[in-house]
Amino acid sequence: MLIHALCLAAASAVLVTSAPLSVGGPQPGETSYYSTYRGKVDAFPANVTKSARLPTLNGPPGDDDLLFQNLLSAEWAIYSFYQQGVARFNTSAFEEAGFPNTTYDRIAEIRDNEAGHLAIFQEAISSASTRPGACEYQYPYTDATSYLELGTLLEVSSMAFLTGLVLQAKLDVSKAALVAIAETESRHNTWSLMDVWRANPFAGPSDTIFPYANEILETTNLFIIPGSCPPENPPYPSPSQKLPFISNVGNATLEPGSQINVAFPDKSNQPKFVDGKDYYLVAFHGVNNASSPFDVKTGTAVIPADIEPHKGIIIFVIADCPGAPTLESVVAGPLIAPQYT
Ligand SMILES: *[C@@H]1O[C@H](CO)[C@@H](O)[C@H](O)[C@H]1NC(C)=O
Ligand SMILES: *[C@@H]1O[C@H](CO)[C@@H](O)[C@H](O)[C@H]1NC(C)=O
Ligand SMILES: *[C@@H]1O[C@H](CO)[C@@H](O)[C@H](O)[C@H]1NC(C)=O
Ligand SMILES: *[C@@H]1O[C@H](CO)[C@@H](O)[C@H](O)[C@H]1NC(C)=O
Ligand SMILES: *[C@@H]1O[C@H](CO)[C@@H](O)[C@H](O)[C@H]1NC(C)=O
Repeated sequence: MLIHALCLAAASAVLVTSAPLSVGGPQPGETSYYSTYRGKVDAFPANVTKSARLPTLNGPPGDDDLLFQNLLSAEWAIYSFYQQGVARFNTSAFEEAGFPNTTYDRIAEIRDNEAGHLAIFQEAISSASTRPGACEYQYPYTDATSYLELGTLLEVSSMAFLTGLVLQAKLDVSKAALVAIAETESRHNTWSLMDVWRANPFAGPSDTIFPYANEILETTNLFIIPGSCPPENPPYPSPSQKLPFISNVGNATLEPGSQINVAFPDKSNQPKFVDGKDYYLVAFHGVNNASSPFDVKTGTAVIPADIEPHKGIIIFVIADCPGAPTLESVVAGPLIAPQYT
């Protein structure tokens, strides 16, 4: 559906980019492959398209090529996380760690869904643009439990950056595809909250909208082994602000109304706070945001109290204006804090 609609949308303007883009193989939505493959080795299309694929047509890029290039690069990181889990663990590894005996099978099914996302995003990029390939990724997990914890964080992060990408999309069909992908990520996340963590999976009336999607995408660069990306890959994300990362160095649970202590762990990329200027902790939650003064000397702020507690996620940034109303007003971040209990 997506492919046909993109061809129609492109037809009037740039007929040449509506040539078939398929890399062949199982088609998402047409076969059960992207739900039922259970091999330990890479799923299609990761088994054949890890290199970048250069444009095969001259001409202007498709309207949402840049968006889908960014999203495909992010998807390589997410797909690879699940593929690593499938390769490394088995049913008993999760059972022995105290999780349900269905956990490994669900992880394999999520890996398959993510492979389907690779295929969908590759197709969504026109042949006038490079389709980015896979890098090598290293994730900070050590065992089955920390693996599942990181997986939950990746799912909530991807739901949040998809809301921001909708704001960037030019074609209506791209917006619908992004919502549909976010719904799939939300199902993955719901499964893990209920079955794995035995938590209430609800997030209040709305999950969090974060408008500056590329700032979240940038944080996935932390997982890339330096120098491992195909040299033909476009810069990722693009555009990029190269903002200093934030880490939470205080209380593990970030409760509305309590204090947050942050540090900027990358010594080579520290925020440049201007003397005498005011800075703010801006907390995005649901469809709103709330701000409080940020003390640049101590790295502390009080988390705004008017946020529904224990639901969904809060995304924090440091900004030079309350509400971080423009991209340029953000000076550090984001920090993603799940609130599920
Ligand atoms: C990749 O996976 C597809 C689908 O399972 C399979 O048909 C194909 O032979 C695989 N190719 C390679 C090179 O592994
Ligand atoms: C799971 O993996 C462990 C460790 O590699 C191995 O000892 C065990 O036999 C495997 N279990 C199954 C059911 O394959
Ligand atoms: C998985 O666990 C359920 C109960 O928790 C049990 O009924 C079922 O037989 C188990 N399945 C396997 C394959 O061990
Ligand atoms: C942790 O939260 C409590 C309660 O809000 C607060 O009093 C304390 O200062 C916080 N500690 C740190 C290190 O942020
Ligand atoms: C944050 O909320 C304020 C007040 O509603 C709004 O003006 C501002 O645009 C919001 N920020 C973003 C980035 O949406």
